[in-house]
Amino acid sequence: MRHANPVGGAHSDSPATALRAYAGVQIALHWVNALLLFALFPLGYYMTSLARGTPGKAEWVNLHKSLGLTAALVIAWRITERIRRPVPPPMPGLRRWEAEVARITHCVLYMCMVVMPLSGYLGSSFNQYGTRFWGLPLPRWGWVDMTLQHLFYTVHATTSYLLLGLVVLHVAGVIKHERLDALACTQRMLPGRRDSSR
Ligand code: HEM
Ligand code: HEM
Repeated sequence: MRHANPVGGAHSDSPATALRAYAGVQIALHWVNALLLFALFPLGYYMTSLARGTPGKAEWVNLHKSLGLTAALVIAWRITERIRRPVPPPMPGLRRWEAEVARITHCVLYMCMVVMPLSGYLGSSFNQYGTRFWGLPLPRWGWVDMTLQHLFYTVHATTSYLLLGLVVLHVAGVIKHERLDALACTQRMLPGRRDSSR
């Protein structure tokens, strides 16, 4: 039987067809995506803590934008792979509510990961600086509008707190399953795994 999943793909859970592991590309994208986010968060909070005109601030902001757009490409690829490939069914041994919390958390994580680069890019399109992608100026289609800029940056900052909170919840869930429930959770997101239960 096939079930809808958070981003519109499917997983297969009949004993005969149950998929046992995430595809290698899904695993690789998960970790590259996580690394990029772990760099973008401190960078974002650090650069916004610097006063306007602080030497070096512009370089930090440009680095953040380039890294953020790189993350956007990785996230787009990740979501595409999530839709076109099946994923393993929920981890055996989870209580019904735990599987539901995990499903909702994953779903909102994906949503936040779409909103973050989009709102950052939109905010940057309505200021006088524009956006460079690793030095390459991207076409300017916005105009200088402080209200729109403020709106998109507010969405960007607010979503960053939600995303950060969900990442903490996500990692706490993994640690709980590993330590308290004795389930091989991390293994599911590591290469070379052929079975999803311990
Ligand atoms: C997944 C990707 C991204 C993450 C996780 C991220 C994260 C963050 C964080 C945590 C902040 C600090 C928020 C605050 O407290 O005000 C921030 C600020 C900012 N981000 Fe991003 N960002 C991402 C993508 C982007 C992109 C693609 C751009 C532009 C092309 C961008 C442009 C900015 C700018 C200009 C600020 C400063 C906003 C302000 O001055 O209020 N970000 N980002
Ligand atoms: C920015 C950081 C992270 C983000 C945004 C993130 C996001 C996600 C998402 C959306 C999924 C669902 C995959 C799917 O079925 O489509 C997932 C699965 C998973 N993540 Fe993360 N993750 C992050 C960091 C971590 C870390 C640090 C760990 C290790 C402690 C981890 C371990 C796992 C595991 C084991 C799964 C598979 C869960 C399962 O299928 O039951 N993640 N992650």
